[in-house]
Amino acid sequence: MTVTLVPALPTLPGPVRPDPLGVLGVPGEINLDHAASAPCARAAADAVAELLPWYASVHRGAGALSRRCTLAYERARQTVADFLGARPTDHVIFTRNTTDAVNLLARALPAGTTVVTFGGEHHANLLPWPRGSVRLPVPDSPAGAVRSLDAALGELARDARPGLPVLVSVTGASNVTGECWPVAELARVAHRYGARILVDAAQLAPHAPVDVTASDLDYVALSGHKLYAPFGAGVLVGRADWLDAAPPYLPGGGATSHVGAATHDVRWTTGPARHEGGTPNLLGAAALAAVCAAFTAADRAALHAREQALLTRLRAGLAALPDVVELRTFGPTAPRVGIVSFVVAGRDSAEVAAHLAARHRIGVRDGLFCAHPLTRRLLAEAATRSGRTDLPPTALRASLGLGTTAHEIDTLLGALATLSR
Ligand SMILES: Cc1ncc(COP(=O)(O)O)c(C=O)c1O
Repeated sequence: MTVTLVPALPTLPGPVRPDPLGVLGVPGEINLDHAASAPCARAAADAVAELLPWYASVHRGAGALSRRCTLAYERARQTVADFLGARPTDHVIFTRNTTDAVNLLARALPAGTTVVTFGGEHHANLLPWPRGSVRLPVPDSPAGAVRSLDAALGELARDARPGLPVLVSVTGASNVTGECWPVAELARVAHRYGARILVDAAQLAPHAPVDVTASDLDYVALSGHKLYAPFGAGVLVGRADWLDAAPPYLPGGGATSHVGAATHDVRWTTGPARHEGGTPNLLGAAALAAVCAAFTAADRAALHAREQALLTRLRAGLAALPDVVELRTFGPTAPRVGIVSFVVAGRDSAEVAAHLAARHRIGVRDGLFCAHPLTRRLLAEAATRSGRTDLPPTALRASLGLGTTAHEIDTLLGALATLSR
């Protein structure tokens, strides 16, 4: 199997440094499914290749290999902290992915915490929360989200249990529509009521900077595999107090400072290690950190402008197809990252996705995108808005990334045009 860089390296005179944010891919395969898992960035592949000969235990050995691996792991933690603008007192805990990070925080909530989410969330930000959590209706604008949260937190503050902790948990960007949520404003509202906020940055971080300090966020969760860093690491970043007071997420080796002979004679350590029991995923952490460093060094404004141009091309092309209806929560001009969900009226979405793959070698996602309540609602809204009675019960999603080209977008649009009347 031939593996190449997409986009192709520029042909400049003299030695050319490969772009660390170039991505691996297979020629001819059009990957428009970055929101599910992004391809591997050169930076991640190189970091893993460089570390592999040294691969040994982390925090568990005195040998040179082990010491180097321990250093690489802890440096990765710092690089991720810097990438996310974490406060010096924050913990950076390596997890498997965003789902794992949200579940970790869910297990670390102080007793009696009420969690407030919106119905537009991915299942990873709906299902881990305890009973008694509040799910606000999906708002129709970013300002509506802020108003709705303000009203809900005001009500909670007046209810019978004032003084108990409240955690607001919202996505940074929707995995269904790509629409961006006003996380800094939501954080301001949350803090006005003494609540904390977690931002699920799984879809935002690959497309736009996320800054814990600048946006005054309490916690951020993300997945390496969506940030061009496969190898199985994610991260939870945020305030130390709840995390240090909570029972360890993975009780076991590495999470303790003392274990005595009696069954329950154990003192758990504080800091990230408390929740990282067992041998850590060094290669995952190193890959994630390498991509974070590459993004930190990159011109993010230029990357954003490029992606927005491709997104505009895609949305304009879809709008021109008579049977295609876009799904959206907010207005058509709301800020969004490179993710678009849509349906082809009169066509089953799974069949369309299979056709795109078989005939055109285009990979898109179909279904309800692990956000069933939201996607069902948006399908109903799309039917009302378009006046169509023949929309399918599931949707298609095209999501763009670093390697996406205008030619790939045009190929998708051309393929859809053959299906749309
Ligand atoms: C917004 C959002 N949050 C959370 C997740 C869960 O991510 P993971 O499957 O990496 O845990 C996803 C995955 O698609 C997502 O899009």
